[in-house]
Amino acid sequence: MSTLLTLLDALDDRPQAVALRELSYRNLGDTVVDVGCGGGRAVGELAARGVRAIDADPAMVSAAAARWPDGEFHVADAAALPLPDGSVTGYRADKVLHVLPDPALAVAEARRVLPPGGRAVLTGQDWDTIVIDSDDPVRTRRIVHTRADGMPHPRIARWYRNLLLDNGFTDVTVEVHTLVWTDAAVLPVLADLGGDGAWLAEQTARAAADRLFVAVPIFLAAGTNSGGSR
Ligand SMILES: C[S@@+](CC[C@H](N)C(=O)[O-])C[C@H]1O[C@@H](n2cnc3c(N)ncnc32)[C@H](O)[C@@H]1O
Repeated sequence: MSTLLTLLDALDDRPQAVALRELSYRNLGDTVVDVGCGGGRAVGELAARGVRAIDADPAMVSAAAARWPDGEFHVADAAALPLPDGSVTGYRADKVLHVLPDPALAVAEARRVLPPGGRAVLTGQDWDTIVIDSDDPVRTRRIVHTRADGMPHPRIARWYRNLLLDNGFTDVTVEVHTLVWTDAAVLPVLADLGGDGAWLAEQTARAAADRLFVAVPIFLAAGTNSGGSR
């Protein structure tokens, strides 16, 4: 199993993450596309609706299809969805836009596959805004910012609202829900962030002493396809 999938699995079962995904499913109607589906968790949770799932990584799609054999999965790019115009009532992209070379293309594609009145939901974190209590705040800031600087669009979550408005969506709403971890389950995430050596050892000791504290604000933006000219 890929490192990414292992990390996603570790976090996705937590009650806060489950509740957040439930919020992301609101108002999507009965035909949904989940773009950048990863392990396909949303496909399982939206099974009662017609749901299609898209991911650019064939290995991820294979893993997701093995987990959810009744799901409809496609290997495709977020900027070129294999769906006709106006063919889904809801579009969802969870923790995806930060890795895309041009997130605006994906949002324009979201609008294409939605009919007027269809709803798009974008959700994910702002990678510059990860709060970690540490005895070494200077190194902590460097770890967080180095990781953020290594991805195409680390601050895309604070742009979700403007992306939706600029691409023909109206009734745009934004909510921020903060995930909080105080136990060892977050240690693999801190290692993946780039934490190691004495810094990670301190976090491990904090977890053992019940003094670990990590908070990550998750942005949830939604908009309605205005149906105006594209
Ligand atoms: C961090 S994972 C999130 C997975 C899932 N949405 C979740 O919340 O668990 C990002 C996913 O986006 C996929 N991805 C990356 N670039 C993509 C692209 N251009 N088009 C579609 N999916 C892409 C990756 O393969 C990966 O599965």
